Amino acid sequence: MIFEPVEFKNKLLANRIVSAPLASSSSMEDGSPSEKSLEIYGRFAASGAGLIIVEHHAVNIYGRTRPAQFLADSDEVAKKHSVISRVLKSGNALCMAQINHAGAKIADPAVFEMEGYRSFSPSGVPVGDNWDKLGRSPEVMTRSDIRRTVDDFINAAVRMVKTAGYDGVQIHASHGYLLGQFLSPLTNRRDDEYGGSDAKRARLLYEITDGVRQSLKDIPLSVRLGAADFLPGEKPLGLSTDETVAVARELANLGVDMIGISGNLCGYGLDRKDSAYFAPYAERIKSSLGSSVLVECTGGINDVRTADKMLLEGVCDLVGVGRLMLRDPGFVARWKESY
Ligand SMILES: Cc1cc2nc3c(=O)[nH]c(=O)nc-3n(C[C@H](O)[C@H](O)[C@H](O)COP(=O)(O)O)c2cc1C
Repeated sequence: MIFEPVEFKNKLLANRIVSAPLASSSSMEDGSPSEKSLEIYGRFAASGAGLIIVEHHAVNIYGRTRPAQFLADSDEVAKKHSVISRVLKSGNALCMAQINHAGAKIADPAVFEMEGYRSFSPSGVPVGDNWDKLGRSPEVMTRSDIRRTVDDFINAAVRMVKTAGYDGVQIHASHGYLLGQFLSPLTNRRDDEYGGSDAKRARLLYEITDGVRQSLKDIPLSVRLGAADFLPGEKPLGLSTDETVAVARELANLGVDMIGISGNLCGYGLDRKDSAYFAPYAERIKSSLGSSVLVECTGGINDVRTADKMLLEGVCDLVGVGRLMLRDPGFVARWKESY
């Protein structure tokens, strides 16, 4: 099944293997790709994966988690990103740009040395280990900060398609970044229309998704969801899978074509030794959605038998591969040979 083509918003994916977004920390100072970025994506393009999702691009300068991150905040920078979409399309893959705002999750405190940088968050709750060293707290977003962020996501999506030449975009709402911070009751303690109930915590994501869908009606649109704040098997705390099922349903109503499943505040499971560790979440979410939305699952999927079994058993429609793609893009050809 894994090597069967699948329809994705009126386009055809050659197979069901997705090159998961992998931040390369390779950008130029203005957030555009460097020679190193081009070399990395050239290797991914040659892999034969059906869909390649390019690492998170910050929608504005406040949305960076580290200095060498891609930006999608202007037409000038978007024009420079077209070298990446061109190289990906030459390999016959469909390609999407992931757009993100890091909010209070700072991977490298050097972002504070960048001109004009400010760190925003739903409620001033720090995320990650760097805040103790920094001796400060993230700012609480005002309503006008939120409105500007919605516009920045929509504008970034439009320019990554229309100017940078990507086939589609993925909105990053996982791994404890800004949209994940709004979704989680552990980091969102607001008492306005963007906090409190599950639906209010998801409101920012819905406004962004709706705005992007209305602006780009015919392109493949994806949201990467952190299915829960805890990993499968851990003690439940914070955002639960039940809440995420409701969010996924509403995203489907808003016209999203693909939902990617990963973790939220727990991250993407780098320390997990088990295989396909997010499969239980993906299966629950897929079973709650109609067939109009593809569900993609990434995390610890390292062999073709596991990947194909997930597809055959209806756990998901697409399988994502991250670190293996980074180490050895030749795995797609090997999987095909041994299939
Ligand atoms: C170096 C590195 C960079 C990553 N960058 C991103 C990113 O930009 N956006 C994202 O959603 N996930 C990112 N991830 C998470 C991966 O997409 C993936 O979920 C994770 O590696 C688990 O899948 P795997 O077991 O196949 O590696 C990154 C992971 C790694 C190791």
